[in-house]
Formats: sequence, C-alpha cells, structure tokens
Amino acid sequence: MRYHLTTYGCQMNEADSSLMQALLAAAGWEPSVSLDSADLVVLNTCAVREKPENKVYSKLGELRAWKAAARGRLIAITGCMAQGEAAEIIRRAPQVDVVLGTRCFQHIVSAAQRALAGEHPVVLTDLNEDPSPLRCGTAMGRAKTALTAFVPIILGCSNWCSYCIVPSVRGPEKSRPVHEIGREVEDLVSRGTREVTLLGQNVLAYGRDLSDRPDLPYLLTHLASTDGLWRIRFTTCHPRDVSGRLIEVMSGEPKICEHIHLPIQAGADKLLREMNRGYTTDDYLHAVDALRAGVRGIAITTDIMVGFPGETEHDFEASLKLYERVRFDAAFTFAYSPRPGTKATSRDDQVPRKVCLERLQRLIALQNRITLERNRGSVGTVAEVLVQGPAERGEGLLAGRSRNNKLVVLPGERRLAGSLLTVRLTEAHLWGFRGLPVAG
Ligand code: 5AD
Ligand code: SF4
Repeated sequence: MRYHLTTYGCQMNEADSSLMQALLAAAGWEPSVSLDSADLVVLNTCAVREKPENKVYSKLGELRAWKAAARGRLIAITGCMAQGEAAEIIRRAPQVDVVLGTRCFQHIVSAAQRALAGEHPVVLTDLNEDPSPLRCGTAMGRAKTALTAFVPIILGCSNWCSYCIVPSVRGPEKSRPVHEIGREVEDLVSRGTREVTLLGQNVLAYGRDLSDRPDLPYLLTHLASTDGLWRIRFTTCHPRDVSGRLIEVMSGEPKICEHIHLPIQAGADKLLREMNRGYTTDDYLHAVDALRAGVRGIAITTDIMVGFPGETEHDFEASLKLYERVRFDAAFTFAYSPRPGTKATSRDDQVPRKVCLERLQRLIALQNRITLERNRGSVGTVAEVLVQGPAERGEGLLAGRSRNNKLVVLPGERRLAGSLLTVRLTEAHLWGFRGLPVAG
C-alpha cells in the first residue's frame, strides 16, 4: 500500500507529518510521489488563516475524480482544519474517509484500516489524547533521519490572542516530560541528526504545566549535554515570557544558536491590548534590548499582522515606526484573516481587504529594505554554516544555515553535506548570503 502526504502550514505540522510517516512506514506503507500510484492521500492541514483552508477545499474537489478512478482509494484530512471543522469537511466533501484532529495522529494506521474495512467516515478529534509518546523509540526509528529535525516540546496554546484559532484547534498547553524529549533527541542523534529545533506555539511556556516545573532554560541545558548534537534551536517565543535566565543560557551554552523568533504582531499599544498579547511596545523593546545586549550576534525575527479590526492609518504608521526602530532581521508578514469562533471575528470595525493588502505591501517594502541593509552589514564577516546539501539553484553550489538562521549558499562538493564550515560572507541578498569557505 502506498500513501501520498501533503503538509500545509507551520513547522509543527511538519513534525506531525513526520510522525504519521513513521507510523505508516512501521505498518508497511510506502510513500508515493505521484497521486496515481497512491492508495491513501493525507492532507495535513492548517487553519490559521482562510487561504490555506481554501486550498484544502479546492484540493478536495480535485481528489473527487482521483478517488472515483479506482476502488479502495482513501482520503484522510488531518491537523488543525480537521480538528476545527470535521463536520463541515464531511458535509462539503463526503468523499473524505478519515478525519484526524491535532492530538490524534497516532491513529492514522488504524483509521485507514477501519476505512478500508468499510467504515465511513472515521472521525477522531479528542483533544485529551496525546500522540507525542510515540515520537521516540521504534516508530520514529524506522523513518529516515535527517541532519536537522523538529522536536515538539509543548503542544497547544493557552494564550487566546483575540484573532487566533490555535488555542481552540490545538487545545491547551501540554508539555512533554524532559526525559521523553531527551530520549527522542538521543534517538535522533544516534541516527545522524546534528541540529534539533524545539517546537511549540510558545516554547517559553514549557514546563509550567508539569509537576516538577522545569522551564525552557533548564531543558536547553539538559539537551546541550547530548553527545553528538551540535546545534539547538527553538521556536516560537512569546515576547511576554523572555527572561534573564533564557538570555543567560543562550549566551553561555555554545550549542544554542543565536536566533530568536519573537512575534510582535503589531506595533501600537492599542492593538496589542485588543489582541490580548499581554505586553506593550515598551516591554517588547526592553526584551529586544536585553537579548541584543546579552547574546552576541543574535538575530531577531518576527511575525507581523496588518489590518487587525480597528487598525487606523495612524496605528499602522506608529507600527511601521516601531519596526524601523527594532530593525528585525526578517519578518513573516500577514494580512489579518477573520477566523471562526475568535473574539476579533465578531467586531464590526473590520478593515477593508483592500486597505489590508495595501498596508501589507508597505510593510513588506519596509522590511525588505531593513533585511537587505542588515545583511549588507554582515558582508565580510565569517559565519559557521551547517551545510544541508545542494542549493536549490546553481551547479556545484551548496546551501546551509548560519547559527543565526540565515541561508548561505557557497561553492563546494556534495560530500560536504552534513559538515560545519567556516564561511566568509561575500554577497548579501534578501534571501541570505553568498559565501566562500575559509581555508583550514
Ligand atoms: N490572521 C492573520 N494572521 C494570523 N496569525 C495568527 N492568526 C492570524 C489571523 N487570524 C499569524 C500570526 C502568528 C502566525 C503564525 O500567524 O502572526 O504569529
Ligand atoms: Fe495564537 Fe497567540 Fe497562541 Fe500564538 S500565542 S498560537 S498567536 S493564541
């Protein structure tokens, strides 16, 4: 039997997909590149904005013909959309056989078997379940191991930002025990992983719900003692939870990479308050100053949303001023998208779509200029690069990431994939750098 899996959305979804791939592999399913030779199509979905949802519905439309073309073909919808709107999916797309929510990935094999046996549809969306214990040991052990790997450390989110669907589709925060994460990292390293990225909607909330209350700095220190592990990253961080302890550990432990992703969302206090973010622009600036003062060479990246309900031209311009002041290394930028069931959706002061898109363009122009200026400022310096493999474009070129997570493209032989090189940055681009390995 063969499966074809598509992942939408964030890194957490990629980690969830890798668990499903491991479980399917352990049960004898083979991955299939083409749809034609697949018996099962899995769409691991995202619900954070409307656009990825629409993509899934149009994909489901296309899959109707695929399913009708041969007997026994199965369609599974998993992840955030599956959790949030299982009933709607089945109503709009009755060809869907399996619906698995955000804490039910562990049932992918048994659900497919039930569907093959004739049950229709199989729907599992209990948020009290937890797939993470399966991530270490035999299941993941059969999957191909990569040089870099994502390791979820905390599931869900308990922040309830007023625009965000995540707390309702991923459930409340639930941390994995330190020993379980440690075992997964050791397991990965023993099979060749050299860099791990610890994942959570807010990794700085790690451990608050555990009885012995470990925190992220503790976990980082613990994992840093793993022999054979070279680099540790973590994402995402809520600005409210940046602490002196985090800065201390980041500056003191050489395996922890100098990069933090710190979503600001908006740069006006009124908007931050209405978004229920729990910090002011001043708090944010203090966190940035402390990080830059405490962690040499740290890169700070962010998420920014434009067009939150009630955002005036004045609020937007104040936000641009703040971003100009912070000078982020890079930003993911989004137009606000109303999500079902969130507080902001029911507000009657929605910003017209046209205004949202126009502001988004201005924001992108500003951030592109800043990113390029910052990158140009690093030309001539050297960076430690973990070479990942051939570059997407260009004969004889390799690509890798610097410690502060910038993409670096350099000439070199393929056999250098998997090594740490010292690279002189020679050319700055929006996407990163061109560089040359430093001899020795
Ligand atoms: N509309 C637009 N962007 C959103 N995000 C979260 N919810 C929404 C929404 N309703 C963005 C935030 C978050 C990122 C992952 O997605 O910026 O940090
Ligand atoms: Fe959504 Fe806010 Fe939680 Fe991030 S912190 S997942 S934006 S509710």
